[in-house]
Amino acid sequence: MERCHEPLAGYYRLHARIYDATRWSFLFGRSQLISQAARALAGQGGAAGARVAEVGCGTGHNLRRLARELPTACLTGIDLCPPMLGRAAKAVSGTARPVELVCCAYGPDSLARDSMDLIVFSYALSMFNPGFEAALDAARLHLRPGGLVAVADFCDTPAPWFRSWMGVNHVRMDGHLPPQLDDRFRPVHRDIRPAYGGLWRWFSFIGRK
Ligand SMILES: C[S@@+](CC[C@H](N)C(=O)[O-])C[C@H]1O[C@@H](n2cnc3c(N)ncnc32)[C@H](O)[C@@H]1O
Repeated sequence: MERCHEPLAGYYRLHARIYDATRWSFLFGRSQLISQAARALAGQGGAAGARVAEVGCGTGHNLRRLARELPTACLTGIDLCPPMLGRAAKAVSGTARPVELVCCAYGPDSLARDSMDLIVFSYALSMFNPGFEAALDAARLHLRPGGLVAVADFCDTPAPWFRSWMGVNHVRMDGHLPPQLDDRFRPVHRDIRPAYGGLWRWFSFIGRK
């Protein structure tokens, strides 16, 4: 396994233990995104045997759901933090088909070119700082023509103190992600919603290469 990148290493060494117990309260839209993406794949006739990757898979919350919704898919989870991948290995240990877990910083060499039917980024891109543009370019490279990208993530906040606090937690909240997705993928679903009375907004996006 590749070494966990600093400074995320220290952050997730602690947070891996409490991740699943806490994140349901603010990482909104993850399960809906997986269901929508599975439906979109089925709608274009590509759900059976689909090749699907989640980049920044963390503790495997979405991989487990993907395995349920797409039981014949070949699933790959990519993450750069071993403590998170250790949790993911447990989360997917009971799935019908084995899930491949890869420890690396996602980039152009992480997957084969034109090989994937669906690539998921769930609350990952907002932590790729720098690197979100390169990650989206890599996803375009790895998706087959007509393949889908599915993203749920933080969008923005009107509160400067909250933006700073999220920065301390390695999250950038500048509304910078939706335009980057529009530039690279043809949208088939796009939504932005307020959280906690408008303290921040989160978005979901499904787009086609
Ligand atoms: C907030 S967690 C999201 C986990 C999961 N996708 C979810 O929705 O619960 C972000 C994950 O992205 C991973 N990550 C951050 N930068 C990465 C990179 N460049 N390549 C791969 N994974 C990365 C982190 O290690 C972390 O596990």
